[in-house]
Amino acid sequence: MGFQRVAEIQEFEKIDKKLIELDDKKILLTKVEGNYYAISNKCPHMGGSLYEGSLQDGVITCPRHGAKYDAKTGKGLGKPKILFLEFKMHDDRSYPVMVEGSDILIDINAE
Ligand code: FES
Repeated sequence: MGFQRVAEIQEFEKIDKKLIELDDKKILLTKVEGNYYAISNKCPHMGGSLYEGSLQDGVITCPRHGAKYDAKTGKGLGKPKILFLEFKMHDDRSYPVMVEGSDILIDINAE
């Protein structure tokens, strides 16, 4: 399928993240340091919505148990915790993003 148009640059004047639904997949599109990045919205720990988490300095924190991910790459940066128990960290999946004119495109089928 290749790259598909999912948003416009101008939408990100007032927001820094957007939830995209594409072919039954939920993708978190973020703007970090002027560039756009896409990772799966589903937290690899127990499926929390990363869109509902906080984005700060390029790090997205899952609202459910606090796991932290690099919004640029999906790399796990901080383990999920429930009370005093820490869980194994898994990386989130990332997707290629391309800007074409005023459009933002994502390729969700890229390996
Ligand atoms: S579901 Fe995201 S940290 Fe548990």
